[in-house]
Amino acid sequence: MKSEQYAGKAAVVTGASAGIGEGIALELARRGADVILVARRSELLGQLARRIESEGGRATPVPCDVTDEASIKALVRQVRQQFGKIHLLVNNAGKELAKPLQVTKSQDVRELLEVNVVAVAEVTRRFLALLSKGSAVVNLASAAGITGAAGLSAYAASKGAVIALTKSLAKELAGRGIRVNSVAPAMVRTEMAERMLGKLTPEQAAELEAAHPLGFGTPADVASGVAFLGSDEAAWITGHTLVIDGGFLSA
Ligand SMILES: NC(=O)c1ccc[n+]([C@@H]2O[C@H](COP(=O)([O-])OP(=O)(O)OC[C@H]3O[C@@H](n4cnc5c(N)ncnc54)[C@H](OP(=O)(O)O)[C@@H]3O)[C@@H](O)[C@H]2O)c1
Repeated sequence: MKSEQYAGKAAVVTGASAGIGEGIALELARRGADVILVARRSELLGQLARRIESEGGRATPVPCDVTDEASIKALVRQVRQQFGKIHLLVNNAGKELAKPLQVTKSQDVRELLEVNVVAVAEVTRRFLALLSKGSAVVNLASAAGITGAAGLSAYAASKGAVIALTKSLAKELAGRGIRVNSVAPAMVRTEMAERMLGKLTPEQAAELEAAHPLGFGTPADVASGVAFLGSDEAAWITGHTLVIDGGFLSA
């Protein structure tokens, strides 16, 4: 079903080539947005754009590495030329680091923070000129960033930083009428989740799934929360972290 909630509005989704980002892009397109698909794997972006167009939506793939300054600048330039302003920026691109701290190298932590934190700040900063009153930013945090998680300390720290960044930017940008929120999913079945689950024994994986009263989530479960926070229906919500977790944190 196609709604017109985002009709005439452009939305940038980073990490749109797979998993949750792909789900967010599909949901926004189904709600009428012009979606700008951002990630490094251009073939996957092209496939998703064709799928969105086959459903009657509009999508523009823009290959970009969000850790590369020149790549971000080229992305923002293209979006400015093609769309002028954007209504929504979704900072979804991210990576995991599933290792106990004692076997984690500092270089691994730096590379993780570069994608999960520095790129969120940098992509947002570069898009500020294209955001105006009524527009929104939604960042992908994680339940791990709220509770912490054994074996995921650096990842949890990076997502805790996303929550703090979200709250701070919400205060900084409120005067311009720009809202900034985040979502904090628990385990959602994606390539990333499969890599993390692959490090567990079958018993540990079953235990983790049982800790989610509604089971593991899907990208679509997260996408509807992101679409809500980015829409005018959330006009008085900023600085918030929406937990989307199948009951994980309350279990
Ligand atoms: N899955 C979960 O259980 C879960 C739970 C909580 C939070 N999250 C968060 O949700 C977000 C999406 O996770 P996911 O599970 O969908 O992960 P995923 O399946 O591994 O997909 C990650 C996406 O990020 C993109 N990406 C990574 N590095 C990039 C870079 N340097 N430049 C541009 N794009 C980059 C990847 O595209 P390319 O490889 O094509 O560049 C891909 O599209 C992440 O921020 C993650 O931390 C996930």
